[in-house]
Amino acid sequence: MTASDTDWARFARDLTRESLAVKTATAKRDADGMFKAGADFYQVCTDCHEKYYGPFLKPDGTFVPPN
Ligand code: HEC
Repeated sequence: MTASDTDWARFARDLTRESLAVKTATAKRDADGMFKAGADFYQVCTDCHEKYYGPFLKPDGTFVPPN
């Protein structure tokens, strides 16, 4: 497995792709498209945080990554 195969890299690529979808919908002033693209965009934030943020968040709010 290379670095570009990791979930981290996939989330980063997904975020790029979805942000461009938001940009496209916004440029077209497509309200429904903006709503949908915005939701898909935010889902990537949530998915990545579920794997790489939440598990390392201590009760006092500090973030302690494994290495
Ligand atoms: C590739 C993974 C990944 C993606 C995608 C991602 N995040 Fe995060 N995010 C993290 C990690 C890891 C942290 C904890 C980093 C730290 O505190 O050093 C974090 C922290 C944060 C924080 C807290 C920062 C702080 O200083 O307390 C906010 C707010 C946040 N992310 C918002 C977002 C938003 C909004 C998006 C989508 C637009 C997003 N993130 C997408 C991984 C990601």
